[in-house]
Formats: sequence, C-alpha cells, structure tokens
Amino acid sequence: MRILIEKDYDAMSGRAAALIAEEIERNPRLVLGLPTGDTPVGTYERLVHLHKEAGLDFSEVKTFNLDEYAGLSAEDPNSYNRFMWDVFFGRINIGPAHVSIPKGDDPRPDEFCRRYEEKIKAVGGIDLQLLGIGGDGHIAFNEPGSSLGSRTRVVTLAKETIADNARHFGKKELVPRSAVTMGVGTIMEARRIILIASGKKKAAVTAQFIEGPVTSMIAASALQLHPSVTVILDEAAACKLRRLDHYRWIMTLEEERAGK
Ligand code: PGA
Repeated sequence: MRILIEKDYDAMSGRAAALIAEEIERNPRLVLGLPTGDTPVGTYERLVHLHKEAGLDFSEVKTFNLDEYAGLSAEDPNSYNRFMWDVFFGRINIGPAHVSIPKGDDPRPDEFCRRYEEKIKAVGGIDLQLLGIGGDGHIAFNEPGSSLGSRTRVVTLAKETIADNARHFGKKELVPRSAVTMGVGTIMEARRIILIASGKKKAAVTAQFIEGPVTSMIAASALQLHPSVTVILDEAAACKLRRLDHYRWIMTLEEERAGK
C-alpha cells in the first residue's frame, strides 16, 4: 500500500482529486467506482472545480456507485442517488446513461445485484475505485463479518453504522436497516484503489486496516492483498499509525525524486 499523509482535509481532498483527474486524462473512458459519505465531498468539490476551471472532461467516463440504502427510491432525499446527483453528477458533464447506482427499491433485489455485477463486467471492470472507510472498518457497506470474497448483495447494517449515519436522517430510528452494496470481492477486482480517510475518529480503524491482520472483522484490511492501493490520510487520521515515520520518509524520498 502506498500511504500518503496530507496536512488536513482540504489537502487530502486535493490529492485524491488530482490522482483521479490524472487517470481520466490518461484514459478518457475511465470506469470509476465511487463512494458516498462526508469524506469524499471535498474530493467531488475539487473534481467539479477541475471540470469548470480546467475543462476536465467526464463525457466518456462511466461510474459505478458502491451502495444504496434498501427501501429508498432514487428520488428519496436521503438516497445516495440524490446525494451523488446533488454533490457531483449534476455539476459535471456526465449523462445518466453513464451513471450506475445500486437501486434500493428494486422488487427483486437479488436479481438486481446479479445484474449490477454483470454490468460492471460488461464495461471491462472498474479501473479506479475511490473508497471511504467506516468507523467499524467497512468499505462500501461491508460490515464486520462480511466475507472478503463477497459480491454485490443485500446486507444488514451494523448498529454502529446506523448511529453514525443518523445525522443525515434526523434520528437513528429512520435509518434503513439494510442496504445494497458491492462486496469486498467486487471491490478487490478494481485495477486501482484509492482510499481516503480524515479526522481523529478514523485514526484507530486506519491503523487497524493498514497495520493490523487481514480479517473479515475489518473489511478494509482486505486491501492489504490488493496490488495497487493508495491510501490518502490527513494528519489526524494518520496519528495512530505505528510506522508513521516510515511512511513520511517514503514521501520525502518520492518528493526528492520528483524534484520538489
Ligand atoms: P463518512 O463515511 O465519509 O461519512 O465518514 C465513510 C463510510 O462509512 O464509508
């Protein structure tokens, strides 16, 4: 894993957006996997800015979102569909035909999940997957205990996740109890993965998934087995890493090599 430590949330977001923009410039037909949550909002803001100010072109990019709450329609104000259109897709030049987001209210959810996997395969797989991480180590909604080989499916949300996300719904009783999510195995097939984490409340889980054992108790720890992962942290999220000095040392050498 390549570990990059930035000063704060803004710098973390800028770094993530720059790496994504580089990949889009290299391959305008990039297939991009995308997360929701508070963490990626700054990255989306930066990408919107690059689109508006520097002409970053999304017209041929295809996107696949990680997850959606079960039972919520695409129009529900709390749906991840609405979030993505408000925060990102509605502000760049991407059309609905190039956007895929799991459907929370499909009458045949298992069939939907199978088709979602097929759709990813049909476009040649995900080139670049952006991820956040939950306080319980989840990536997408793969809660502790999710098989590291799991595929897109309906899952039950952990109590901790329901409590974390209650802020968006007003109170935790209103948070759906289940979700449709890409599996850990689905995510691991992406060619390149960038995980972003920010703030002190992510410090413990960040140290666990980077430096602890690979375990289904921390879904993100599976990324240790992936050949191309970049983790971008702010100082607060990085503060519990045992090998912090070593990661900083690598960054210094990289910067020297790049002549910065
Ligand atoms: P957050 O959520 O970005 O809102 O902290 C991350 C996640 O649960 O994956």
